[in-house]
Amino acid sequence: MTPGSQWIEACAHPNIALVKYWGKLDVAANIPAVPSLSITLGGLQTRTRVRLSRDGKDHFLFEGRARPEMEQRVIGCLDELRRECGFSGAVEVESDNDFPTAAGLASSASGFAALVLAASTMMGGGLSREKMSELARRASGSAARSLLGGFVELSLHPGENPPTRTREILPASEWPLEVLIAITDSSAKSVSSTAGMELSRNTSPYYGAWVDSSAEDLRGAREAVLNRDFEALAEISEHSCLKMHALMLSTRPGLLYFKGATVGCLHLIRRLRAEGRPVFFTVDAGPQVKAVCLPEAVEEVREALAEVPGVLDILHSPLGEGAFLIET
Ligand code: DP6
Repeated sequence: MTPGSQWIEACAHPNIALVKYWGKLDVAANIPAVPSLSITLGGLQTRTRVRLSRDGKDHFLFEGRARPEMEQRVIGCLDELRRECGFSGAVEVESDNDFPTAAGLASSASGFAALVLAASTMMGGGLSREKMSELARRASGSAARSLLGGFVELSLHPGENPPTRTREILPASEWPLEVLIAITDSSAKSVSSTAGMELSRNTSPYYGAWVDSSAEDLRGAREAVLNRDFEALAEISEHSCLKMHALMLSTRPGLLYFKGATVGCLHLIRRLRAEGRPVFFTVDAGPQVKAVCLPEAVEEVREALAEVPGVLDILHSPLGEGAFLIET
């Protein structure tokens, strides 16, 4: 391949966890301390292009600009890929999101999933999807799940190689849930997930209970998904979300990601479900609220969320597929 000659482009969607990942078993190897279960959001995307570098150095542009604060992680991921693929060249990377970055919308998940697919293809590594997912996990835990679509489980296998595995437990088409994302603040989050998790592990008196109860949440959520049992999935997902935020709040200093409007949306969604609407909430390390609905509830939930004071915008997404290459 001639340096600089040809772009390889991949698209990946962000995912949101219904059973949450928070905390690491091994920081250096980025092994999560808990399993997780997510849905891939087909309506939002990261597109990443890579090509051989023209000057022998790695370059990274995000939304058209150099981002020194992101560069080290991107180059770390490229180094792992070079090792795995037996490739020695430098790489130019350009990446764009069509949704707000760093505001609890898991942009590192779609970002690293797209990067691993595009760059490993360019490096000719012939990696399996499982291997790509493993490499993405080392860059960012949630990214492992965005290589796959629909309902995705990340399970833990400590002491084995690899120590985590991801699998699609149900394709999106088998249970086409929809997600509304209420944006309550579009600025970048104050404490990153990576830093926040370490703080929680080191300072929260609840950390052990969080880790110990995670396997049961995963089992219950998996069963609810396989049975398409919306009520059961709603109960476990809200529990896992609130339990993670309780852990965050009990960290020192406390990690308070909610805004007033976040709490307003949670009350609204609970009321709607109590009145019989098929909707539940989840919130990540940011102030946005994700309302997971059966399709028939989407319009009513959207109208009700728009009335909550402080809701700035509402995004809508069906479930989607795992990362894929784009023909250029
Ligand atoms: C709250 O995957 O961003 O979104 O592995 O340090 O990159 P790192 O963390 P990251 O954490 C995601 C945390 C979460 C919950 C989840 O997606 O499971």
